[in-house]
Amino acid sequence: MSDISPEAPPVDAAALRALLTWYAEMGIDDITGDVPSDFSQWTGSARKALPPVAQSPQQAPRAAPTRSKPAPAPILPGDDPLPADEAIAAARAAAAAATDIESLREAIAAFDGCPLKPGARNTVIDDGIAGAPLMLLGEAPGREEDRIGRPFVGRAGQLLDRMLAAIGHARQEGDLAPAYISNAIFWRPPGNRAPTKAEIAICFPFVARLIELNAPKVIVTLGNTPTQTLFDNAGGITGARGTWRDHATAGGAVIPVLPTFHPAFLLRQPAQKRLAWADLIEIRKRLRS
Ligand code: URA
Repeated sequence: MSDISPEAPPVDAAALRALLTWYAEMGIDDITGDVPSDFSQWTGSARKALPPVAQSPQQAPRAAPTRSKPAPAPILPGDDPLPADEAIAAARAAAAAATDIESLREAIAAFDGCPLKPGARNTVIDDGIAGAPLMLLGEAPGREEDRIGRPFVGRAGQLLDRMLAAIGHARQEGDLAPAYISNAIFWRPPGNRAPTKAEIAICFPFVARLIELNAPKVIVTLGNTPTQTLFDNAGGITGARGTWRDHATAGGAVIPVLPTFHPAFLLRQPAQKRLAWADLIEIRKRLRS
């Protein structure tokens, strides 16, 4: 690969286009970090997180490049900045001002306070039938969802649709009972990393308002992130799944919530489908009560 360090001579537009085309052909078509990061400048814990670089004995050690301005420190999972109080306050105000699902969707799409938004192709809000008695809450859009702009359109979404059909629900209009789907986060985290606590807190006022305006009979949280978004003290999904909890809306309504495994986890661990099936039966029972 050519050297594109700051000391390299400026490249012309055609060369840059050729480089990008080559990246795309090699399958490098996605960002994996929040900010561009010069690996040669990584220090301390960030450098320790890197796998060791294999060096051939012929390679002479390279002198560290000099630069006038240091590269920004890479943002790594778990390096949460302090919760962005102003963004959370703005999200609360925008969410509270929305009086129906449509105006809430517009408010989410117009919101610029989440640091994930600039790196995402689309704002991914919801799918299915608003006002359905069954509301499912996932984690965050992945690559396909980001591309298409709808939640759960990849393999995990296909499994989710089969799980819903097994208890007589669907997100499309038709013969089955309706379901409504959203996520704890509305913008794809780079490289599908887990969302940070600050990102979750910034999106939460919108999630809470989506729940309130949809007023479902039952909420199902899929995996750790949405479960811990609604319940600080939920712990891991393996312990939390299968036990009902209550979500209280700002208006005072109490909605039963059943945490279960995320379909992406079930694709990796099919043996856990047995427990997910037990959860689905619980959900069906509650919906019909
Ligand atoms: N996983 C999620 O949690 N949500 C999506 O929308 C897609 C995959």
